Amino acid sequence: MSERPLLNRRLDGFGTTIFAEMSALAVKTGAINLGQGFPDTDGPEEIREAAVRALRDGKGNQYPPGPGIPELRMAVTEHQQRFYGLTFDPDTEVLVTAGATEAIAATMLALLEPGDEVIAFEPYYDSYAACISMAGATRVPLTLRAPDFRPDLDALRDAITPHTRLLLLNSPHNPTGMVLTRDELTAIAELAVERDLIVVTDEVYEHLVFEGEHIPLISLPGMRDRTVSISSAGKTFSFTGWKVGWVTAAAPLVTAIRTAKQFLTYVSAGPFQYAVAEALRLPDSYFIGFRDELGVKRDLLAGGLTDAGFEVYRPQGTYFVTTDVAALGEKDALAFCRSLPERCGVVAVPNSVFYDDPKPGRTQVRFAFCKRESVLREAVARLGQL
Ligand SMILES: Cc1ncc(COP(=O)(O)O)c(C=O)c1O
Repeated sequence: MSERPLLNRRLDGFGTTIFAEMSALAVKTGAINLGQGFPDTDGPEEIREAAVRALRDGKGNQYPPGPGIPELRMAVTEHQQRFYGLTFDPDTEVLVTAGATEAIAATMLALLEPGDEVIAFEPYYDSYAACISMAGATRVPLTLRAPDFRPDLDALRDAITPHTRLLLLNSPHNPTGMVLTRDELTAIAELAVERDLIVVTDEVYEHLVFEGEHIPLISLPGMRDRTVSISSAGKTFSFTGWKVGWVTAAAPLVTAIRTAKQFLTYVSAGPFQYAVAEALRLPDSYFIGFRDELGVKRDLLAGGLTDAGFEVYRPQGTYFVTTDVAALGEKDALAFCRSLPERCGVVAVPNSVFYDDPKPGRTQVRFAFCKRESVLREAVARLGQL
């Protein structure tokens, strides 16, 4: 074998995701897993049944259409209309993907050239960095800082160069729980128009906002033709394993993204697409009930972590709470998370690995609260021993 490393240099340094490492640690030690963001109970029974029915009825068992089944594309447009008053053409402006993950990957591969710069909030969801890199582009972080994690809009303006191709935004933001306000979104939209940028918005936690409201950037003036809006069913309907996501954007953007997507998975999750079409049509009471239930869990976990001595940054959205463990005398979030299962039988994720500059997040640790209340109570009791 030659000296050349096997791994493509664009993937150099990405290793195993922290979620996989920490979930494996949870399995090995039997600890409560508040690391990876998946619920410990499945979503609505009737939606699970809809998937079973689709399988039995032979719907989606063979390759579905490349852009997604028409029923799901129509349901996505109805959802955008119902919640945000936005109109999309289901035939040309919606693309169904293998979760938001593939939507992000296909978008980066379709829209970026080597040498392009992408501005993204840090701490970032780890696939952003990898996808930007696989596309040969460079990431430029815009650091969100404790305690409130608001984006510094002057810093954003300064970060834009002639090489900036797009902004990759996430609101509600994982891991900090920050939700962009209308004023912030307006300022971002004005900048995007002024500097002629595309903006990609990852909105997978759109239905998990406890304070404020979720406003899609694409609804703001000047943004309809330059925004790629991404979401998925995993978080909203508690079926993270189904991996059904979607892009909504103007037709030329969808066409470009579909060109990349068709050579990644081509299509996926046929029968689940039928079930997700039904899920998106659930009554408002489902969405409100889901958010309220998670709100109670947020308060339970945030309160317990505060009592256990953590500094807690109360999230406005998502199902994560970011804490600072410096208050416990800890100096390094990664070391803390690696030792936590042995010390008290709980798994969490260090935010520090989601920063390019490790300083601002060195002692930040994220806990997921999409778990049964009894599990959260037990976790809190264990963390109280620290
Ligand atoms: C911000 C963010 N984007 C995307 C995803 C991935 O979504 P999906 O499971 O639909 O691929 C996640 C999952 O944790 C996430 O937190």
